[in-house]
Amino acid sequence: MDDLIAFLGIPSISALSEHSGDVRRAAEFVRDWLAHAGLEHSRLIEGDGNPLVFAEWTRAPAKPTLLLYGHYDVQPPDPLNEWTTPPFDPQIRDGSLYARGAADDKGQVYILMEAVGRLLRERGRLPVNVKFLIEGEEESGGEHIEHYVAGAPPELRSDAAIICDTAMFAPGLPTITTGLRGLVYGEIHVAGARTDLHSGDYGGAAPNAIEAAAQIIAALKDRDGHIRIPGLYDRVRRPSDAELAAWRSLPFDAKEYREKEIGSPALAGEPEVPLFERLWSRPTLEVHGIRGGFTGEGAKTVIPARAVVKISLRLVPDQRPEEVARQLETALAQAAPRGVTAAFKLLSSAPASVVDPENPFIRKAAEAMEKVFGRKTVYVRCGGSIPIVGVFEKSLGIPSVLAGFGLPDDNIHAPNEKMSVENIRRGIDAMIAYFDALGGS
Ligand code: BES
Ligand code: MN
Ligand code: MN
Repeated sequence: MDDLIAFLGIPSISALSEHSGDVRRAAEFVRDWLAHAGLEHSRLIEGDGNPLVFAEWTRAPAKPTLLLYGHYDVQPPDPLNEWTTPPFDPQIRDGSLYARGAADDKGQVYILMEAVGRLLRERGRLPVNVKFLIEGEEESGGEHIEHYVAGAPPELRSDAAIICDTAMFAPGLPTITTGLRGLVYGEIHVAGARTDLHSGDYGGAAPNAIEAAAQIIAALKDRDGHIRIPGLYDRVRRPSDAELAAWRSLPFDAKEYREKEIGSPALAGEPEVPLFERLWSRPTLEVHGIRGGFTGEGAKTVIPARAVVKISLRLVPDQRPEEVARQLETALAQAAPRGVTAAFKLLSSAPASVVDPENPFIRKAAEAMEKVFGRKTVYVRCGGSIPIVGVFEKSLGIPSVLAGFGLPDDNIHAPNEKMSVENIRRGIDAMIAYFDALGGS
């Protein structure tokens, strides 16, 4: 716990440049911890962006080689005043460790570190070969790891990637994630008049960029959650009947989900599509923020000339990010009212990914988790994105085993992020059982 608390205490926020020193310190922490634990060639890989951490132990000839992936960077902690205890002063309350990054993803990276570390301490060796690859820009769409992995460097040769960066479907229920959504994230730059103008002098003549932004946003989705971008749904693949049946049999209380987890009077989204399909196998479009105009205290009569909208689409198999970005651009041009232009600036993108639950690396992980948790492992998908999974598949030709130990109410990306201490312990035990199973001992 002390080491994990020290790791969580480093504010490694990759989205904020003023924290670049902290980001590097977190990378060095992982590198030094792994070197001290007995891994070899422990080092930082420098490149465009934040360093990658690499370390390996490959003294088990003829045994499988696992690429252990995670991220040491975290989301910004705001709004700060909603945290019960400070985000980078980790504290244990009611069996959970509270800190930014506790579940996403430092606490879960630590599960992999400690599983390997404990085996090396207790046995002096591992039942399998491992290669750690821990990145520092997952939360901010950085491409350092992508460029590095796309080159398929020989030191990454491995049989499967193991990733602890997802959640269990419910407390006590071991869970493997078999699919992630992709992402197209960017900004809409709306421009109207040459400059901001007096709304009395020019109201009735000058276009209003914020009003135009609102009209554009409203045109992109109908009131029933259907996205109105021509062609967007053309490639959307329906999950198999078997997968849909498995989702229907998950233990789930819809009322509790709406009241406790979402906390709104009704759910949004396509009413004719069952909830798990809406979350896991249908594309979505969300607005994240609108910048522009006057938002200070008091009144200012002005017609804003510019507005910026942060917006993203989650993608599902078999949608293509470049194609979706183009479709969005076309739809924006159509939706812009007279007198304004709307340009799309792409910030980051990643395709969706799915893995075959019958893959032996996945089956063995499910069995190991079953042993430790004492319950049958369930298979779900995840609505979020882990961009490197697609690159592991495409460039290294390896599947990813998404064995996460977070909980649905861990508040990732939100105030009061936490991770269950029991899940950390069981996660470590499950990973050790998994490595033993793969090594055949
Ligand atoms: N660990 C999450 C992905 C995730 C989300 C897993 C929800 C389980 C439940 C990951 O760190 C993440 O937040 N990914 C970003 C990627 C983006 C910034 C490119 C996401 O999904 O928004
Ligand atoms: Mn994560
Ligand atoms: Mn995240």
